[in-house]
Amino acid sequence: MHLINLLALLFQAAGPAAAGSILFSGGTIIGFKAATDSTPESLDVVRNGSVLVTDDRIAGVFSGAAPADQVPEGTETVNISKKIITTGFIDTHKHGWQTAFKTLGSNTSLPDYFNRYGEFATEGLLTADDVYLGQLTGIYEALNGGVTTILDHAHHTWSNATSQAGLKASIDSGGRIFWAYAFHHIANFTVAEQVANFRDLATKADFEGTPTTLGVAYDLFGPNPDLEEVKTVMGLVKEFNASVITTHSLQGPWGYDNSPEDVSNLGYLNISTPIVFSHASFLTATGATLLRSTNQYISITAESEMHYGHTHPVSHLIQDQASLGIDTHFTYSSDILTQARLWLQSTRRKLYAEVLGRWQIGAHNPMSVNQAFLLATRNGGLALRRDDLGVLRVGAKADLVVWDGTSPALLGWNDPVAAVILHASVADIEHVLVDGKFRKRDFKLVDKTYPDIQAKFLASAERIQNVLIETPLPVLNGSFLSGYPYADPLRVDVQRGAGDAYGEQFLAEQI
Ligand SMILES: *[C@@H]1O[C@H](CO)[C@@H](O)[C@H](O)[C@H]1NC(C)=O
Ligand SMILES: *[C@@H]1O[C@H](CO)[C@@H](O)[C@H](O)[C@H]1NC(C)=O
Ligand SMILES: *[C@@H]1O[C@H](CO)[C@@H](O)[C@H](O)[C@H]1NC(C)=O
Ligand SMILES: *[C@@H]1O[C@H](CO)[C@@H](O)[C@H](O)[C@H]1NC(C)=O
Ligand SMILES: *[C@@H]1O[C@H](CO)[C@@H](O)[C@H](O)[C@H]1NC(C)=O
Ligand SMILES: *[C@@H]1O[C@H](CO)[C@@H](O)[C@H](O)[C@H]1NC(C)=O
Ligand SMILES: *[C@@H]1O[C@H](CO)[C@@H](O)[C@H](O)[C@H]1NC(C)=O
Ligand SMILES: *[C@@H]1O[C@H](CO)[C@@H](O)[C@H](O)[C@H]1NC(C)=O
Ligand SMILES: [Zn+2]
Repeated sequence: MHLINLLALLFQAAGPAAAGSILFSGGTIIGFKAATDSTPESLDVVRNGSVLVTDDRIAGVFSGAAPADQVPEGTETVNISKKIITTGFIDTHKHGWQTAFKTLGSNTSLPDYFNRYGEFATEGLLTADDVYLGQLTGIYEALNGGVTTILDHAHHTWSNATSQAGLKASIDSGGRIFWAYAFHHIANFTVAEQVANFRDLATKADFEGTPTTLGVAYDLFGPNPDLEEVKTVMGLVKEFNASVITTHSLQGPWGYDNSPEDVSNLGYLNISTPIVFSHASFLTATGATLLRSTNQYISITAESEMHYGHTHPVSHLIQDQASLGIDTHFTYSSDILTQARLWLQSTRRKLYAEVLGRWQIGAHNPMSVNQAFLLATRNGGLALRRDDLGVLRVGAKADLVVWDGTSPALLGWNDPVAAVILHASVADIEHVLVDGKFRKRDFKLVDKTYPDIQAKFLASAERIQNVLIETPLPVLNGSFLSGYPYADPLRVDVQRGAGDAYGEQFLAEQI
C-alpha cells in the first residue's frame, strides 16, 4: 500500500468518523418518543429539525439546526427544507424471488397460486441465476418504495445453488433482509440436504457485517407435525441463533394451520427468537392470547389476503401484535405504504359497517393515520424484536426515507403523518438509506449496475413467463387440500348487458 493511502486510512480512523456522517437539515422529522411513566410511546414530530447519521446509526435528532460541536468534521449536509424525513418501512412477509411472474397473477385465487406459482409448483423452473435476478430486482423495487427491512420467507430453497443465489442477492441489495431459509418437502432436495445446505450458509456467514441476517421459515408446525423434523429445524435455530422464524398460518377452512397453538404445543412459542405468523387469517381467541403472552407477532399482508381470498376477518383485533407484509409482489406493488393505506381504509370500513349494521351512525373514525404509520414501521421492528428498527430516534439504525414535500401530491401538507400515509406515493420518495448508506438518492437507485441487472432480469423473466403462459391453468373442482369444497364467488361485471364479459389476460409470448 502506498504511504499516502495508509496515512489517509489512519487519518480517517482517528478522525471523528468524518466519512461516515450525514446531516439532514431543516426538514420535518417524524420521530419517535419512548414511553414514560405517564405516557405511552408515540410518534414525535419535529419541525425544521435535523437528523445526524453517523455510520449505521442515528446519532442526533435536533429541533432547529444541529449544534456545531455535535457535528463531526467532514459531515455531508443534505438540505431537507420543506421535506419530510421518516424511518423506513418494514415488510414482515415477502417472497422476493417471484419477481419474474410479474402481472401473470392478476386474477389468481389462492388455490390457483398453489398450483401455479408456489414453491412446489415451480420447483425446477428457476435456475440459480433466475433466483438471483428475481430476488435482487424484487428487493430493489422495495428499496425504491421506501421499504428498508424485509422478512423474506425464502422458499426458493430447491438446491444448494438456488439457496445460495437468493442469499447472495439479498446481501448484494444492501437492504436489511431477514432471509429466512425455508425447510420444506419438495421433490429433489431432501430436508436432510436442506439442513446441510443451511449449515453451510450459516457457517460461511457471507452476511456477516452486512444488514442481512439468517432466519428460518417452516410451514409444518401443524397439524400433524413430524416431531423429529421440527426438533431438527428448531435445533438449527438455536445453534445458529437465527434472527427470526416465520411460518404461513391460515387455519379455518384453509387448514394449513401453523397456529400459535401448534407452536406452543410443541414447546417453541415462548422463546427468545421472534416468530412471525404470516396472515394468521383465522387466528383464534386462544391464539391471540398466546401471541400476547409470549410477545410474538403476525404479519398482515392486507392486499394479498384480499386478492387471493384468504382474507383477515379478525386481524384488526390483534393489531397490537401485528405488523404489515407484502407477500407476492408479482401480483401488485412492493411498497408497504400502499399496504398501510389499504389496511387503514379497509379496517375503517369494517368497523363503520359494524355500527351501521346496528342501524347506528359512526361518530368517530375508528383508526388513525398515526396507528397505520406505527403498524408499518415500529410494529415491524417489534415483530422482529428489534427496538432499533422502524423508529427514528437517537441510537436506532439509520434506515431512513426522505419525502419530497413539494410534490404535486404533497403540496399544502400540514400533518406530516397524514401526508405520508394518505397522500404520498413511491413517486414522492427522494432518498432512501439503509444502515446509514444511500440506496436511493435524488429519486434514483444508486447502484450503477442497475441497468445491466435490469437487462439480465428481463431475459430471465421472458423465459420463465413463456413457460408459464404455455402451461394450462389449473382446473379447480372438488375440494381444496383442507377437504373443504371449492365454490365460485359471484363474478361481477362492469359492462351492461348479458354475457360474461370478464375479459382476457393480455399476455404476449415474447420472442
Ligand atoms: C429553522 O431553523 C433555523 C436554524 O435554527 C432557523 O435559522 C430558521 O429561521 C428556521 N426556519 C423556520 C422556517 O422556522
Ligand atoms: C435549503 O433549501 C431551501 C429551498 O428548498 C433554500 O431556501 C434554503 O436556503 C436552503 N438552505 C441552505 C442552508 O442551503
Ligand atoms: C427432479 O429431478 C429429476 C431428475 O433430474 C427430474 O426429471 C425432475 O424433473 C425433477 N423434478 C423437479 C420437480 O424439479
Ligand atoms: C450441497 O451442499 C452440501 C453442504 O455443503 C454438500 O454436502 C452437498 O454435497 C452439496 N450438494 C450438491 C449436489 O452439491
Ligand atoms: C442472538 O442474536 C440476537 C440478535 O438477533 C442477539 O441480540 C443475541 O445476543 C444473540 N445471541 C447469541 C447467544 O449470540
Ligand atoms: C415465557 O417464558 C418466560 C421466561 O423465559 C416466563 O417468565 C413467562 O411466564 C413465560 N410465558 C408464558 C406465557 O409461558
Ligand atoms: C373436475 O374437472 C374435470 C375436468 O373438467 C372433470 O373431468 C371432472 O369430472 C371434474 N371433477 C369433479 C369432482 O367435478
Ligand atoms: C383469469 O383470466 C383468464 C383470462 O380471462 C382466464 O382464462 C382465467 O380463467 C382467469 N382465472 C381465474 C382464476 O378466474
Ligand atoms: Zn407467503
